[in-house]
Amino acid sequence: MNVTWVMGFPDGNEQGTYLALDMGGTNLRVCEITLTKEKGAFDITQSKYKMPEELRTGTAEELWEYIADCLQQFIETHHGGQELAKLPLGFTFSYPATQEYVDHGILQRWTKGFDIDGVEGQDVVPPLEAILKKRVCIPIILYRHRTNQLQGLPIKVAALINDTTGTLIASAYTDTDMKIGCIFGTGVNAAYMENVGSVPKLAHMNLPADMPVAINCEYGAFDNEHIVLPLTKYDEIIDRDSPRPGQQAFEKMTAGLYLGEIFRLALIDLLETNPGLIFNNQDVSKLRKPYLLDASFLAAIEEDPYENLSETLELFERTLSIRPTFPELEMLRCLAELIGTRAARLSACGVAAICTKKNIDSCHVGADGSVFTKYPHFKARGAQALREILNWAPNEKDKVEILAAEDGSGVGAALIAALTLKRVKAGNLAGIRNMEDMKTLL
Ligand code: GLC
Repeated sequence: MNVTWVMGFPDGNEQGTYLALDMGGTNLRVCEITLTKEKGAFDITQSKYKMPEELRTGTAEELWEYIADCLQQFIETHHGGQELAKLPLGFTFSYPATQEYVDHGILQRWTKGFDIDGVEGQDVVPPLEAILKKRVCIPIILYRHRTNQLQGLPIKVAALINDTTGTLIASAYTDTDMKIGCIFGTGVNAAYMENVGSVPKLAHMNLPADMPVAINCEYGAFDNEHIVLPLTKYDEIIDRDSPRPGQQAFEKMTAGLYLGEIFRLALIDLLETNPGLIFNNQDVSKLRKPYLLDASFLAAIEEDPYENLSETLELFERTLSIRPTFPELEMLRCLAELIGTRAARLSACGVAAICTKKNIDSCHVGADGSVFTKYPHFKARGAQALREILNWAPNEKDKVEILAAEDGSGVGAALIAALTLKRVKAGNLAGIRNMEDMKTLL
């Protein structure tokens, strides 16, 4: 449960131009967002950069250099030759970070398969700012500092943001019933608004008890102790062979990164414990490659519209060079359904837990992430589970509704930067590291 220093919802009147940097996992995205005069409106320009696979397990220096390259390229493309004042940056860093200030965040541990040395336990903002300062954009001189020094990208980190907090704030910008922001994607997590008085970690700061503050739950780490959730042997293997055994227990059962691997491990188990039972006389060597199948593979099986499961057959031939028999195809469909249903129903538990804790009887939940947007039946299965957990009468409509969110890591990040600067202007110092520094962005 990490304090984010996002101290309240937007009112829809936020304005200004902001950069957003989204380091989610698969892609790196840079956006420039202008929150316009019209209430709740914005313009957005964005570029996506593929995150090279090697970067996930490379060095910290390579990571920061790559991020700086992307930001530099963005600025050069969209503002080449212009003299710019410093742009406030909302940096969406979707990993667990403890924050003493809004523009600060110590990475607790990498999640989602990342394993870059030298970042855990460190504040991630200073190395990013240091590298941006070092960049000189030649031949286009981009930024003339007030002292006439020609160096550095015209960017200052105004806020470090978790994707769930971004999702919460972006969704609440256009829908005031939004109380929770969720990600169901490569990882799973949620954020909600708490009162400062209910946060023991903040007791020493003597802030007003009714002041709102967004909490990043990091509930992907729920049950790391392995005492609550019933684990299958496949869950245990996933955990054992992951870069961080013992971490992200809930996430490893529900998130997109792992669904295909759970499926693969179950098939390998069938092959090994019952020789000849499935895929008899077929070459199964391709199936032996860890993480070969991703969640889209399961999604495709669940989506196969044909009675004879011909698309699943084709998928297996294409991806694994295996030709399952019809009963095997039916078993594969059933296995995919079990894994997809378990993920959706467990995901609903996280949302229900927040509603229960906050006594929320009805609200909207803003959700994003590839599993939410692309995995078949995920929404309906989650909604059904919420109904059961929260005990709604059969004739009652869904009181807690999980809806597609606004772009949290883009618009949400810009809004959080805007909300932070609004607080700087108003002299509300909670969670601001260096007021004078922040004032340069006003
Ligand atoms: C992982 C990260 C968390 C993030 C989530 C969704 O659980 O630890 O910070 O919000 O993935 O991207």
